[in-house]
Amino acid sequence: MEKALIDTLNSRSSVVAEQLIQAMRYSLLAGGKRVRPALVVECFLASGGKNIAETMPAAMAIECIHTYSLIHDDLPCMDDDDLRRGNPTCHKKFDEATAVLAADALQALAFELLAASDIPAELRCELIRSLAVAAGCQGMVGGQMLDIQSESSSSDIDILAVERIHLHKTGALLRWCCEAGALLAGASQKQFDACSRYGKAVGLLFQIADDILDVTASSDKLGKSAGKDEAQNKATYVSLMGLSRARELADEMRELALNACEALDDNAPQLKALANYILERES
Ligand code: IPE
Ligand code: IPE
Ligand code: MG
Ligand code: MG
Ligand code: MG
Repeated sequence: MEKALIDTLNSRSSVVAEQLIQAMRYSLLAGGKRVRPALVVECFLASGGKNIAETMPAAMAIECIHTYSLIHDDLPCMDDDDLRRGNPTCHKKFDEATAVLAADALQALAFELLAASDIPAELRCELIRSLAVAAGCQGMVGGQMLDIQSESSSSDIDILAVERIHLHKTGALLRWCCEAGALLAGASQKQFDACSRYGKAVGLLFQIADDILDVTASSDKLGKSAGKDEAQNKATYVSLMGLSRARELADEMRELALNACEALDDNAPQLKALANYILERES
């Protein structure tokens, strides 16, 4: 995965403005946890897929979209963060214009990688369509809008509103990973539905865990600034219902994810391990 991402950027470097490719490299290769590619691969295997090389274009595409979302999320006009993946944020290292453009370019690159892949044409088109939906106004971008609006209206926000924010800003891309893995494997309807249910549960679980870590972990451990959500008056599970209830809800989401695994090949032990990791991770 890392090598494929490096090669992808290197092969374009001679025709791209130096500062732009440097900023893309800086953020994409900064050592994220790569949870999303892992979900693509493991849902592929749990749905009967064999050759994981077939997941590579989708795995790279989602990491490009995810990294673009982080660069924009950190901008002064959004969460205004200085630290990401243990390094200065893209706009701190370079400048705002470069960060905006590097993220734009990563978003476009994601669709280029899928479109240029050798996935059969009909499935390729469906993956491009569904990624656009998951990333755009009906998915991540829509959720980011709700998240930003929540800062100034947190007194009107209830649990359903926070769930809606989380399912969009974070859940949509994670669910896409799981559904894409299943589709690439040629999953049966039962396998696809199980991956989709798993993806919805871990999508919500991932953001609840992120909200918990924001109040319980150090910036050093996280590689990003801790305590940001309270400082910015964000609507999170923790702000709404407190730490212990947020932990209980996270546990319920994990149970839903683990249950979905029962319908998959060999009960998908790796997907179970990933769900546990998503809840128990320290960063
Ligand atoms: C952080 O995602 C942003 C959220 C959606 C909560 P990750 O925790 O997956 O970030 P990296 O990729 O490991 O840096
Ligand atoms: C970000 O949520 C979700 C994205 C779409 C990037 P957060 O704002 O909580 O993510 P972090 O904590 O900055 O990584
Ligand atoms: Mg944010
Ligand atoms: Mg943020
Ligand atoms: Mg956060």
